[in-house]
Amino acid sequence: MKKERIFSGMRPTGKMHVGHYFGVLRNWIQLQHEYFCIFGVADWHALTTSFEDTTELERNIIDMVTDWLSLGVDPEKCLLIIQSLVPEHAELHLLFSMITPVGWLERNPVLKQQLQDMGLKEAVGYGHLGYPVLMAADILVYNATKVPVGEDQVPHIEITREIARRFNALYGPVFQEPQALLTESPRILGIDGRKMSKSLKNQIDLSLPPEEVHQRVMAMFTDPEKIHKNDPGHPERCNVFAFHQAVGNKRSAEIAEDCRKGLLGCVACKRELADHLVEFLKDIAPYRKQYEGKPEFVREILIEGSKRARILAQETLEEVRRAMHIHYGVVRR
Ligand code: TRP
Repeated sequence: MKKERIFSGMRPTGKMHVGHYFGVLRNWIQLQHEYFCIFGVADWHALTTSFEDTTELERNIIDMVTDWLSLGVDPEKCLLIIQSLVPEHAELHLLFSMITPVGWLERNPVLKQQLQDMGLKEAVGYGHLGYPVLMAADILVYNATKVPVGEDQVPHIEITREIARRFNALYGPVFQEPQALLTESPRILGIDGRKMSKSLKNQIDLSLPPEEVHQRVMAMFTDPEKIHKNDPGHPERCNVFAFHQAVGNKRSAEIAEDCRKGLLGCVACKRELADHLVEFLKDIAPYRKQYEGKPEFVREILIEGSKRARILAQETLEEVRRAMHIHYGVVRR
């Protein structure tokens, strides 16, 4: 039986943090055993909002993928690609752009939120508007049926399904409608209690050295109603407690109880977390030594993966061109 295909991607934001691990990466690492997975660096997607300064792009790609590999994303099992190294993504994006009504894109709640956050209202770029069309191309160019993503990406997968449906209705059954794969992830936040994100500088990187893990953890916000060490706390509302659970501290139940009774102060609680987190980060990245500080090695993996993925993408484009009657022949270089 042919294995189902999975595609997922991430914009190259550089070093990965704990939020990426629980939200997405943990899922990828499990799925690679059951499915044929293609994981992509969405460098063109990064350009939709960050086109002004592109000097860090390449470094961010290598830093991000070094983390993927360190955690056990296995290049023997999956294909790791860079979107822009497989130009068929762009060709399919162009063809999809013909059949995608602008209204679908203007209604996209992710875009609306971004425009609000960025104060962009009128100045949305053509490429930015087409963000979900490019995502549809990423997924459908491999005819992937499952797409493991964070909840925030679900509206984009919905548009992908609509584009697939529309294409099939117009030109015949070429694509399957892919499904989003969501997993429950522990609700951990950044050290300041907001969503963990590099842009908010509240993240804990997966590759952070132990001393800095300690510093970051000791700076974490706790239950705001627990001011003095012996005040009774509310672990269910405390991000530090969420972390204890997320990293699998076996003393979590005791910690909750002692916190509620006012027997455990936040400083001691955080010190214990820092120790556990250091161990946790070491345990989840067993291959770090193999990849850290070897950008050329990482780059080769991406080039090789892209080369192999391109063969699959070209097969799809062949089919697409035939279905659309724009298959006039092959021009060889
Ligand atoms: N938009 C996704 C994100 O920001 C990244 C992405 C690009 C992606 N192409 C994709 C995810 C295709 C899944 C499938 O996280």
